[in-house]
Amino acid sequence: MKYFILFGPPGAGKGTHAAPLASKYNLKHLSTGELLRAEIAEGSELGKQAKELIDAGNLVPDEVVEGMISRAFGKYKEVDGFLLDGFPRTISQAHDLKEMLAARDEEVTAVISLMIPDEVIKERIAGRAKIEGRADDAKPEVIENRIRTYHAKTEALIELYKDEGLYHEIDGLGTIDEVQERVFKTVDSILGR
Ligand code: AP5
Ligand code: MG
Repeated sequence: MKYFILFGPPGAGKGTHAAPLASKYNLKHLSTGELLRAEIAEGSELGKQAKELIDAGNLVPDEVVEGMISRAFGKYKEVDGFLLDGFPRTISQAHDLKEMLAARDEEVTAVISLMIPDEVIKERIAGRAKIEGRADDAKPEVIENRIRTYHAKTEALIELYKDEGLYHEIDGLGTIDEVQERVFKTVDSILGR
C-alpha cells in the first residue's frame, strides 16, 4: 500500500487536488477535516466535542483524529493506498502515524506539500466561504488563528519529513490546472513512472 500525505497550510488546495489524485492513482482520500465535519453534521458525540474547537480554528486532540485514521486504514482494502489530507498536523501525530504504519508493516511513501503565502490563504478562504459555508471560514479572526496554528504546530513537520527524505514541495500558486500538472508530475516521478 502507498501512504501519501497531502500537506499544506489552510486553503493551499489539498481538498481541490485530492479527488483527481485519488482517482488517478487509486487511492482512498482521507481528509480529517471532512471526517470531522461529517461527525458534526451527524450530531455524533465526537462531533459535539470537536465542534467548538474546529469553529474557533483550534486543533482537536490527537487521539480523536488518530482513531478516525486508524479505523479507515482497516476498512478500505480495494485501493492501492491512502491519500492523507490534513493529517498528520503535529509532530506527535507524525510519530503516531509512523507507529500505526509500522504495526501494519508499512511506511509513509511521500509527502506532497502545496505551498502558498499567508496572504493568498486569506484570499482563497474568503472565496470559499461564499461557496461552501464552512463555519471556520466565516470569521477573519478564526482564519488568522488557523494560520497561526499552522505555523506554530504543523509547519515543523516540513523539517521532520525533509530529514526522512520524504518531502516534496510544490508551488501552489497559479491556476488549479497548472498546480494539478505539477502535482501529477511529482507523484509520477515518486512512483518511477
Ligand atoms: P481541514 O478541513 O483540514 O482544513 P485546513 O487545513 O484549514 O485546510 P482547508 O480545507 O481549509 O484547505 P485546503 O488545502 O483543503 O484548500 P482547498 O482545496 O479547499 O481542517 C479543519 C479543522 O479540522 C482544523 O482547523 C482542525 O480544527 C480540525 N482538524 C483537521 N485535521 C486535524 C488534525 N490532523 N489534528 C487536529 N485537528 C484537525 O482550497 C481552498 C479554496 O481555494 C477553494 O475554494 C478552492 O477552490 C480554491 N483554490 C484551490 N486551488 C486554487 C488555485 N490554484 N487558484 C485559485 N483558487 C484555488
Ligand atoms: Mg480541505
